[in-house]
Amino acid sequence: MARGYRVIGLVRSASRSGAVLAAVRALAPGPLPAPAPAPAPSFGPSAGPGSLELVLCDLSSLRSVRRAAAEIRERTTRIDLLVNNAGGLASERTITDEGVETTVASNYLGPAGLTLCLLPLLRRAGRARVVNVASQAHVLAGHPAWADFARSVPRHRFRAYAWAKLALIVFTRALAERVARQGIEVFAFHPGVVRTEFARRTGGWLQWAAAIARPLMGSAADGADALTWLATTPLVPAPSGAFFDRRTPRSPSRAARDEDAAGRLWALTTATLGCPDAPDADRAAA
Ligand SMILES: NC(=O)c1ccc[n+]([C@@H]2O[C@H](COP(=O)([O-])OP(=O)(O)OC[C@H]3O[C@@H](n4cnc5c(N)ncnc54)[C@H](OP(=O)(O)O)[C@@H]3O)[C@@H](O)[C@H]2O)c1
Repeated sequence: MARGYRVIGLVRSASRSGAVLAAVRALAPGPLPAPAPAPAPSFGPSAGPGSLELVLCDLSSLRSVRRAAAEIRERTTRIDLLVNNAGGLASERTITDEGVETTVASNYLGPAGLTLCLLPLLRRAGRARVVNVASQAHVLAGHPAWADFARSVPRHRFRAYAWAKLALIVFTRALAERVARQGIEVFAFHPGVVRTEFARRTGGWLQWAAAIARPLMGSAADGADALTWLATTPLVPAPSGAFFDRRTPRSPSRAARDEDAAGRLWALTTATLGCPDAPDADRAAA
């Protein structure tokens, strides 16, 4: 926002949106929310003051994701930059009323669904970028079959988290191939192990281990700095679809690089989300 972007943020709790606006206002004093600046001619912030507005969205609910995407489509005609950052590890295993394990719904299906719903706006920018916040923890997911969401998600919640982050990395590459000719770059990213609320909410041994290791972790600002760099640097030093560990391109796990698996996950994801406009045809043309 301080760089002049019109920011549309997602928040899942209406009662906390005032606190979010106040916190951002404290970081970036100035008029808030401000009117949207004129569309910029190329990738990056528009000239003029930035602004922040919030849209309600619970990423673990596909209904909520579709509603939020529709609201965003009403508010703007284009998106230059989409950052899928929200996520985390639920403190216990639960299944959403749409039948998906909650950690997978929040960390994978929600962000994937939001991205696919917003593709028309990203295309309209002429040059756009998507950054998916994944995790190095994806290496713990092994080599899933990507057979279906209900049966193949691991029962252990930390492995389910790793599974979801692996899916996000595979989705990033699959999407990058399919939108290569539409001016959209897509990247996945590990922010480092950083002191946020993440490990405070996980419960169990992980919460204890994280409390002990907390002084050794990077700061939230370090993670945010690397994310901001990947989101805004004009020329990313790796091809679209790449995985980054902070500012460094990294090869993700073997499972994340499996071509057949990417095709299977793509088909499974678009079928689950019911996305008739998912860009399969573009891949053949690319
Ligand atoms: N911290 C680390 O060491 C680390 C390492 C690797 C990857 N990551 C990833 O980095 C991203 C940011 O996490 P963080 O470390 O900043 O953790 P955090 O402090 O717990 O923040 C996570 C944010 O995601 C939001 N969120 C979670 N589930 C949501 C849902 N279903 N719908 C909407 N919003 C939801 C939370 O909203 P509420 O405030 O409403 O709960 C919160 O604002 C996550 O994707 C995480 O997996 C973090």
